[in-house]
Amino acid sequence: MAQDKSAVNPFSPGAGHPPPFLAGRDQEVSDFSKFLDQDTVMRNVILTGLRGTGKTVLMDGKYKPEAQSKGWVWVGSDFSESSFLSENKLCKRLLTDISVFTSNATIPTSYGTLGFASEPTPQRLDFNFLWQFFEAQPGLTADKLKSTLEFVWKVAEARSVRGIVFAYDEAQVVQDRESKEEYPLAVLLETFQSLQRKGCRYLILLTGLPTLFPKLVESRTYAERMFTIQELGRLNPDASREAITVPTKGSRFTFTEHGINQIIKTSDGYPYFIQFICRETFDHLKVNPQELSIPIDSITRKLDSDFFAGRWETLTDRQRDLLYCVAKLPESENEFSIGDVVDVSKSIPGIKRFTPGDVSQMLPRMIDKGLVYKNRLGKYCFSVPLFGRFIQRKLERKDQQQTLFDAD
Ligand SMILES: Nc1ncnc2c1ncn2[C@@H]1O[C@H](COP(=O)(O)OP(=O)(O)OP(=O)(O)O)[C@@H](O)[C@H]1O
Ligand SMILES: [Mg+2]
Repeated sequence: MAQDKSAVNPFSPGAGHPPPFLAGRDQEVSDFSKFLDQDTVMRNVILTGLRGTGKTVLMDGKYKPEAQSKGWVWVGSDFSESSFLSENKLCKRLLTDISVFTSNATIPTSYGTLGFASEPTPQRLDFNFLWQFFEAQPGLTADKLKSTLEFVWKVAEARSVRGIVFAYDEAQVVQDRESKEEYPLAVLLETFQSLQRKGCRYLILLTGLPTLFPKLVESRTYAERMFTIQELGRLNPDASREAITVPTKGSRFTFTEHGINQIIKTSDGYPYFIQFICRETFDHLKVNPQELSIPIDSITRKLDSDFFAGRWETLTDRQRDLLYCVAKLPESENEFSIGDVVDVSKSIPGIKRFTPGDVSQMLPRMIDKGLVYKNRLGKYCFSVPLFGRFIQRKLERKDQQQTLFDAD
């Protein structure tokens, strides 16, 4: 049976899943585009934001084609944990990625022996070649990497390449580890700063959670001058509306004005939540075409179990108590301090009070779990959007259960 396209659900919630319509990021794309016009690269880019704000899809879906249309080569991938455990692994990662570009090129290397001139044998610049080249260079790891990438730049220039973007997602996992004497982050910063000064047109684009930039600055203070930060947040109401309505154009099912407003309010403009609620609503409309309202309560419950619950399950009871306290704060969606948590814990029945020492010991663990981060003002914030609301809902359900229990 042929599928009726007008009834296919176009929405796509999921990490890195391209949306049916990427709404509201024109300013960021145009700002990024200006960095591609630098003759000598002085500024690199950090694309940061909470979970699900659309960093990956913006990078893959807009920045990459923009760079390619301006004559830049685009290389990169995910910085998985293991890529960043050691300096050596970092170099392997970078050279593996760049070799996708260089391996199409050859250089004449070996000449005939015994004094007879013969045709030079072309040598392909694949990963093995680059790695041997790297290992043959003198100096420390950063020196070897610099020499290798300087050589690669000459190859790129000879092929009239405008520049090369090294784009890495999930870059917040990068870490210098003093205890192991491994400084991959420092090697990365040092290498590219030096190459850029020499006129090699390499641009670094790092994407990740808001913990990323402080880590870079901690590694090398000059990182502050090397990077411009682009922060992705919620979509404004007009862009949210476009993200909701454009994908259903020409479809048998469209949202009512009331439905659109409800989706904007519940998602608070966060792209992942928009995709999620729209997909669920669309499926609901297919089955119940006569219904005008959106079953927002059951969709929110599904969102809680699909998106938030997994993160909640990893916490101990005491950590959950701490987050209950944070969620009780009126400004919990923005930022909070250790003192705020201590104060509010005094007024919540059923929770053992927190001392400042308790809180400052527990927060780093939640940072490690990717739930909280420390902002530039030294205050704490949730890394997951609308996490406070989720906790509030949990609290309410708990209260309701408690009431039922008491009544029994
Ligand atoms: N501008 C946008 N318009 C519409 N939908 C979007 C937009 N940006 C992202 N989305 C959707 O939101 C979801 C999350 O996007 P993405 O995975 O890029 O977020 P992220 O910031 O990389 O998240 P994470 O920090 O978890 O990696 C995807 O389903 C994507 O299709
Ligand atoms: Mg991502």
